[in-house]
Amino acid sequence: EWTPNNFVETTVQEIKDKVGNDKVVLGLSGGVDSTVAAVLLNKAIGDNLYCVFVNNGLLRKNEFEGVLKQYEGMGLNVKGVDATDRFMKELEGLSDPELKRKAIGKAFIDVFDQESHLIENVKWLAQGTIYPDVIESVSADGGPSATIKSHHNVGGLPDFMKLKIVEPLRMIFKDEVRRAGKSMGIDPELLGRHPFPGPGLAIRILGDITPEKVAMLQEVDAIFINGLKEHGLYDSVWQAGAILLPVQSVGVMGDERTYEKAVALRAVESTDGMTADWVDLPYKFLQEISNKIINSVKGVNRVVYDISSKPPATIEWE
Ligand code: XMP
Repeated sequence: EWTPNNFVETTVQEIKDKVGNDKVVLGLSGGVDSTVAAVLLNKAIGDNLYCVFVNNGLLRKNEFEGVLKQYEGMGLNVKGVDATDRFMKELEGLSDPELKRKAIGKAFIDVFDQESHLIENVKWLAQGTIYPDVIESVSADGGPSATIKSHHNVGGLPDFMKLKIVEPLRMIFKDEVRRAGKSMGIDPELLGRHPFPGPGLAIRILGDITPEKVAMLQEVDAIFINGLKEHGLYDSVWQAGAILLPVQSVGVMGDERTYEKAVALRAVESTDGMTADWVDLPYKFLQEISNKIINSVKGVNRVVYDISSKPPATIEWE
């Protein structure tokens, strides 16, 4: 029978046997998988695990600072790298969803490659790959692993990809990852976080990306997510977020006519992200969130709720 304690104990021993006194680099994403992988490796090899947490400038509001602090509090040897400008530059002028994804993937690889070169004599690359990723090679968690994998065959591999691979979670499922994380004392709030895509808010801003749009969407998203938490709805939703639409509509504020942006809210139920149903959130809640967004986020005058299921719609809009 699988138990989290047994899993942790045997996996820690396996890591020790495998990597010995070598140095290991791991990209943290803020998601469940990379975090649990890091804590396992840290238990096995301590500060020989070098974690890199990249801010692509497309995370949720205050997420980079908050999660970095949390990682430090967990005793991880972690370096936060703010590469916001780098990502913004790569994204400049791009509107096509696939080009945006590619630009983000490339920027991530460049930054990560650069960082891994700073670790002298590093021998291993650790990844938070879980069993479904092994089968599908797509992570629903938004971890760097997904980004790396989809670029495996680009040719001329970055040096960090020539490292030996250690993937302590590759035989287990998401719920087991959570249980293992819990048994190692990881904050339940972190373990219960919604999935978040690797390209982040870039695929929730339809059209081109600017720092202003990112800031606007971060505000909208924070109001929605905090509202879900305050109303005890967060844990009953599999994933939620806001989308900034490339649409302006007429509104009225006081006696003034406005012509501003529309945002969509999306909340879905799912088990693996492959199929999903929109969540029947209470009207009262939606009303409150909509008012809050329109009253406090400058530039937004309309909120709509996405009532599409997957398939045929996807969870993300891009
Ligand atoms: P879709 O939009 O395809 O999303 O229904 C299914 C799940 O995957 C997440 N997602 C991604 N995760 N990199 C990731 O790591 C990506 O490029 C990516 N695109 C979508 C999405 O958030 C949802 O959980």
